[in-house]
Amino acid sequence: MIATAIVIASCVLGHTAAAATSPEQVILSNNVDHGQVGRANATPGVLNPSDKLDLALGKAIKQGTELRILCAGDSITLGTLSDTAGGDGNGYRLQLRDDLSKDKVTFAGTVTTGGTMSDGYFAGWPGKTIEYISDEIEPSLRQRPNMILLHAGTNDMNPNGAISTEGNDPHGAVARLGALIDQMIKACPDAVILVAMIIDTCEPAQWPATREFQSLIPDAVQRRLDDGHHVLAANFTSFPTSQLRDCIHPTNQGYHLMGDYWSDFIAQVPRDWIQAPVGPNPDRPSGSGNTGINKTLLMVLAALAVLGMCS
Ligand SMILES: *[C@@H]1O[C@H](CO)[C@@H](O)[C@H](O)[C@H]1NC(C)=O
Ligand SMILES: *[C@@H]1O[C@H](CO)[C@@H](O)[C@H](O)[C@H]1NC(C)=O
Repeated sequence: MIATAIVIASCVLGHTAAAATSPEQVILSNNVDHGQVGRANATPGVLNPSDKLDLALGKAIKQGTELRILCAGDSITLGTLSDTAGGDGNGYRLQLRDDLSKDKVTFAGTVTTGGTMSDGYFAGWPGKTIEYISDEIEPSLRQRPNMILLHAGTNDMNPNGAISTEGNDPHGAVARLGALIDQMIKACPDAVILVAMIIDTCEPAQWPATREFQSLIPDAVQRRLDDGHHVLAANFTSFPTSQLRDCIHPTNQGYHLMGDYWSDFIAQVPRDWIQAPVGPNPDRPSGSGNTGINKTLLMVLAALAVLGMCS
């Protein structure tokens, strides 16, 4: 009885798995290479959002290449307050995944919170500065993401020194950001690193420093780009402050908009920069993967398939 149930289950699951990797689907997601660095008349090394934020929709970013994405930063990466007012608690990350529905996406990172995603992993620490992120991010980098989305420096710009623990001078902050980028390049030399010119704030005391910090980022990125590294600035400065809940964190709709920005930026990365992720996907606790099927169960299914029980 139980054996029969397992065989039936494995046949159903086996067919589902086969369908997901059928050649037909690969052809359907045939990729149009519109990757380019920046847009006409823009600063090289800076990605700007497209008019409709829709460049990633409906087709794989790079056919046949899995995206192992590390979302890195602070509370805006975690999705703080996205669990209020009927929100799902996933910040921008679920919208990003939805926009990349034609890609196989795995989220790298050692941190997870109470959002509704079964694979809601990232490397983000609420209320923390770039320096703190640098101190904590190494285990996440060891998971070898091939795409890193860094949105950091908001807390460094906070006028309250208890939060901006290294001081809120924009020049100092961008130097620390550069060091964090270098740390990422060293740990993940094959990864594409997109560095946010962070979203605006409507907090009057935080606004001037934020503006200056944003403006210094392209130069820090350009120097790494000139050295041959796959780093680009992602210009979030047009993100409307009307989409902020508390002048720092986006509203639920604002987080979705952030997801759209990120996917649109990813779609502008030169395709030959995007390499298959190095090594296996991160090992997750049982039941936390995006299918919920653990390795043991997969091995049983594979054994059954070999035995020809599905034919
Ligand atoms: C970033 O976006 C803003 C707002 O759209 C724009 O004015 C600015 O020129 C952009 N910066 C760069 C370096 O492309
Ligand atoms: C995998 O799933 C099976 C069945 O649900 C369970 O008995 C087993 O403990 C799980 N193994 C691991 C490594 O999580």
